[in-house]
Amino acid sequence: MADIEAPLVAAAAKPGQFVIVCLSTAYSERIPLTIAGVDAKKGTIRLVWQAVGKSTAELAELRVGDKVENILGPLGKPTHIEKFGTVVCVGGGIGNAPLLPIATAMKKAGNKVISILGARMKELLILEEEFKTISDELIVVTDDGSYGKKALVTEPLEEICKRTPKPNLTVAIGPAIMMKFCSEVTKKFDVPTVVSLNTIMIDGTGMCGGCRVEVGGQTKFVCVDGPEFDGHKVNFDLMMKRMNAYKKQEAQALEEYKKHKCKIGLDG
Ligand code: FAD
Ligand code: FES
Ligand code: MG
Repeated sequence: MADIEAPLVAAAAKPGQFVIVCLSTAYSERIPLTIAGVDAKKGTIRLVWQAVGKSTAELAELRVGDKVENILGPLGKPTHIEKFGTVVCVGGGIGNAPLLPIATAMKKAGNKVISILGARMKELLILEEEFKTISDELIVVTDDGSYGKKALVTEPLEEICKRTPKPNLTVAIGPAIMMKFCSEVTKKFDVPTVVSLNTIMIDGTGMCGGCRVEVGGQTKFVCVDGPEFDGHKVNFDLMMKRMNAYKKQEAQALEEYKKHKCKIGLDG
């Protein structure tokens, strides 16, 4: 997690939007990260990320006072916030970070907020206390049962959908597979569902086509048409296939990065 000084982005950012970070030189990889919080007075934005590969690992090496080459944003359409009634906010893993400002805004708009937070294990659960503060009801689940209930997020989501009255909206953010199964559950109960898609992005302005997805049979670009879409209409299988397209190169890049770090003695 880091708070980054970016006053122009902080002044304009709204829940649901993201930035593209270019790390160390103008030729660095560009990676999209959601704006997980804003301090407009200080002019800072909060980014929360999981080190899954080269660029996120490199970002995690930065220390207070370090600089990133550039930040582009805020990008994407903000979340549509209004008083819907009962909103179920489902977060999986690092998805809890982008979900928090949305859940907070939903609560502020007068909704009853039920939050379901899931993680593979206790150590990977983030922002529980923050969600406790803004949720009317909070359910925590872990895959291995090391904290909260041993379940996937879809289990409590299904239970909540069976309640009378049923929820008015679900917002699900997390791994693509989690958003796919959440959408399948809510579809059975006809509960409208918003998902925030995390496709591969390059330019972030609708020109490269890297973030292309199929929604309701139509081609959409996540960076400009999203990142939020109707979960019942997203072709998740195609999206996941496209997200895995560069696995080999990503593994190579991480390997090279680790070797280089070893060579210059940065690996502790
Ligand atoms: P790599 O080893 O290069 O890639 C690991 C996996 O990350 C890949 O298999 C692929 O699925 C994905 N990925 C790789 N390159 C990109 C790219 N250029 N754009 C998008 N995904 C990529 N992650 C967070 O931890 N926190 C966030 O708040 C967050 N917000 C996001 C918001 C949006 C709108 C999108 C599209 C993605 C977001 N992600 C977030 C995912 C994050 O961008 C990837 O984890 C990151 O790019 C991985 O880079 P890497 O070099 O470390 O890993
Ligand atoms: Fe290039 Fe969306 S990232 S079109
Ligand atoms: Mg990468």
